[in-house]
Amino acid sequence: MKIKKLKSAHLLKDSDLSRDEIISVFELTAKLKKAVKSGKKHALLNGRTLGMIFEKSSTRTRVSFETGMYQLGGHALFLSKNDIQIGRGETIADTSRVLSRYLDGIMIRTFEQNKINELAEYSSIPVINGLTDDYHPCQALTDYFTIFERVKTLKNVKLAFIGDGNNMVNSLLLTGAILGIDVSVACPAAYTVKPEILEEVMKAASSSGSKITVTDDINLAAYKADYIYTDVWASMGQEEEMNERKKHFESYRISKKLLSDNCPDALVMHCLPAHRGEEIDADVLESENSIVFDEAENRLHTQKAIMAMLMK
Ligand code: CP
Ligand code: NVA
Repeated sequence: MKIKKLKSAHLLKDSDLSRDEIISVFELTAKLKKAVKSGKKHALLNGRTLGMIFEKSSTRTRVSFETGMYQLGGHALFLSKNDIQIGRGETIADTSRVLSRYLDGIMIRTFEQNKINELAEYSSIPVINGLTDDYHPCQALTDYFTIFERVKTLKNVKLAFIGDGNNMVNSLLLTGAILGIDVSVACPAAYTVKPEILEEVMKAASSSGSKITVTDDINLAAYKADYIYTDVWASMGQEEEMNERKKHFESYRISKKLLSDNCPDALVMHCLPAHRGEEIDADVLESENSIVFDEAENRLHTQKAIMAMLMK
């Protein structure tokens, strides 16, 4: 398999990849998915090791990165913040320089974007964002791959997001704007997308031709959407805000009514974990139009492509 090396040394946020690079990620993802399905060996990272630092919980990210490294002929180490010295105050800079001497790549799930930026600054090996408070690029790349593999094009695609102006929507907006996808977002006014993020999104959209809408009107956002996406009302680290948030988010859910009024054929997406009866109704999540488990599966294939293109 021919692997194109990415220009950026790291994947810290969505805009580290150009449109052409994202398409190359998708092409390699499709090949790797086929290889898994047909049982073909693809040891692209033979003998390499990925360290996976987790400061927040995870099911999909942990399991898909670890399994992905194994399938690529490498090995992954789970480094929970409670088990490494970061949890006892060792600095990011020291941790990064030490891990760079042992490993071939680091994936980190953490809080502030500054932390991953600092880790990368001191690292001599690729650093991959496995979710920060601001971005979740591996998930957004996977989600657009999930659309791409179905329709083989990214032209004339509208994705609507209903919910919190969080890491997930930031990455969907940014990757969508780079790819030329129309992204329409509805958030409660007090929880909308940050202006500095929107500025970067609009810049990318002006090059690609994406139509970007950010509103507080769920019907406007969902109108004629091909894909409709949501995520939890309170992200990891915001659990204590949940009661207050519930007051603002009550109507920001994907329901059968929202779909039938605006986009009856839209496919339903969610990064998971889902809270049925909050941001999404159970009958929508379990409906024939739901592709949430395809997205979850594709994390494995997409991240293998990203790791191969960064670490080979
Ligand atoms: N979607 C996602 O990142 O899931 P986890 O939190 O389980 O990793
Ligand atoms: N916005 C969610 C995404 C989980 C995958 C969170 O940060 O908790």
